[in-house]
Amino acid sequence: MRKTQVGIVGAGPAGLFLAHLLRKAGVEVVVLEARTREYLETSPHRIRAGVLEWGTREMVARAGVGDRMVQEGLGHGGIYLAFEGQLLHLDFHALAGRGIWVYGQQYLVTDLIRHHLEAGGEILFSHEVVGVEDLEEAPTLVYRTPDGRLERLRCEFAVGADGSHSLARKSIPGIQVHQKTYPYAWLGILAQTRPAAEELIYASHPRGFALFSMRSPSLARNYLQVAPEERLEAWPEERIWEELSLRLSGVAEVQPGPILEKSLTPMRSLVVEPMQHGRFFLVGDAAHVVPPTGAKGMNLAFCDVAVLYRALVAFYKEGEASLLARYTQEALRHVWQAELFSYWMTTLLHTAADPFEDRLREAKLRHLGESLHLQRFLAENYVGLHTSGRYTHYIPQSA
Ligand code: DHB
Repeated sequence: MRKTQVGIVGAGPAGLFLAHLLRKAGVEVVVLEARTREYLETSPHRIRAGVLEWGTREMVARAGVGDRMVQEGLGHGGIYLAFEGQLLHLDFHALAGRGIWVYGQQYLVTDLIRHHLEAGGEILFSHEVVGVEDLEEAPTLVYRTPDGRLERLRCEFAVGADGSHSLARKSIPGIQVHQKTYPYAWLGILAQTRPAAEELIYASHPRGFALFSMRSPSLARNYLQVAPEERLEAWPEERIWEELSLRLSGVAEVQPGPILEKSLTPMRSLVVEPMQHGRFFLVGDAAHVVPPTGAKGMNLAFCDVAVLYRALVAFYKEGEASLLARYTQEALRHVWQAELFSYWMTTLLHTAADPFEDRLREAKLRHLGESLHLQRFLAENYVGLHTSGRYTHYIPQSA
């Protein structure tokens, strides 16, 4: 049977970042990934949010894998909120002392794969983990090779970074799942056109929420609140542009252009507890899911990785196991902070079916428009002062 120090299930942002950091610290790592490299890097099904908290950007840069992120990403000093015909700018530098960085998750995954492989790291693509055994003594990943054989990787520690439909999660005995679904979904498009504004616009409109984001000055990424049972076929290009335009009318202009990709995103919140058992740990979406409003998902995954990385290095370099024992406890602080914010942003901006709820929501928005205190709450959470901002120094500055 093959052996390694740390086995990682999943080559998403969390698994790859952890693998990169551990390898640099001299720990032997193997990443097992069910999909092909090409799928991860190019499939439209893998497009995710593109907002990095300042702390996430800082961690990536400190780890020495941020060359393209710095070159091609866009620095933003705030966001716009559109409601009741007004456009409110929230200046994050003034409100929270920090900004954000716009860079697509799929680009970052591509960069992490390249850096890890170039440095001699090992990622086994098309190797699907189908079970985890012996979590307490020596977690063993059972996987299917591309030619269909079942093999085992025996690890000193193993990490489940296999995303929101995690199989790894199910191997933790007695795990509790806290969750909530929302009565709406997002229809997202990537379009070859200039974005509606130079910064993101979160628009609350009686017809439903809309978000106007971007990937570059010529690639717009926009979203519409739709019913959870909505079908993509019901949304030809003209209807999408018409609806985006209606939800932004009076505040900014939408410039239609060729749509390169369309997708539907369900909305749910989920947290599992504990995030570990024996020598097995969960990171990222495998442990928690947030609704997309506020773009916290990947940022949260980097927080988990920073905490677990520090704990594993303390174990390997100093024989100190107490940080590993406290992993769940430390991680749940930033997890619930981000769950709270994502829930708050989501319910603040999406039209509710119940008229009473919806009037309350409008009152909340108006209050936000007038209260510097609430604007600070939003800005601090959006830039991640108390999530990734707390962990940047866990990542050693690479030369
Ligand atoms: C994007 C997605 C989000 O969920 C969000 O809150 C902001 C931006 C995006 O895809 O660019």
